[in-house]
Amino acid sequence: MALSGGEAFAGVILARCLSVLRISLALAGVLCSAPVAANDASEPSATELIEGLLSGRVPVGGPFELTDQTGRRRTDADFRGKLVVLYFGYTYCPDVCPTELQSISLALDALGAAADATQPVFITVDPERDTPPRLADFVSSFHPRLIGLTGSLAEIRKTATAYKTFFVKNSAATPGNYSVDHTGFIYLVGKDGRYLGFLPPGLPPDAIADAIRARLGPE
Ligand code: NI
Repeated sequence: MALSGGEAFAGVILARCLSVLRISLALAGVLCSAPVAANDASEPSATELIEGLLSGRVPVGGPFELTDQTGRRRTDADFRGKLVVLYFGYTYCPDVCPTELQSISLALDALGAAADATQPVFITVDPERDTPPRLADFVSSFHPRLIGLTGSLAEIRKTATAYKTFFVKNSAATPGNYSVDHTGFIYLVGKDGRYLGFLPPGLPPDAIADAIRARLGPE
């Protein structure tokens, strides 16, 4: 289910952190021909995940247990009572993730006091490099209330797959200097922990703020 704020949604962006690949909903099936590295065969493909998300017919989200930027274990239940604004990305992303997190931060600022009822959360898709201290530096540069979460690769894969987020690490000429292709939707999760919907990548801050406001309901 897409939010009203995303009604103009005409396509899906697979956020390749060095280039942004825009495909239309109708063309989602051609993603397999795009220059995206193959994932492990046991993992769902980008197409499967995106189609699942867009169909609105499969469950999205669910329980998770990860580690925050202070090293504390956190679960989805910790955020009950807040509207969670969730984004998956990685701190070494050169362009797309910082831009999107900046837009989320500006949207929260625009909401003023109403934003107190939200909890912005960033989950890394690069747990190998995104340690809690690295996340602490990163999230604080965007918003004082942004929580960063990391974990084992298995924990991250499980959580990302639950949210229909695709990610794959690209091989690099020099170890440690790789990029990670990933989808870049913003997910909204209700105060009761239930998935409410997603926002497409690249929305301006005011559109993100409108979508959040619509979901916050009366105070
Ligand atoms: Ni990114």
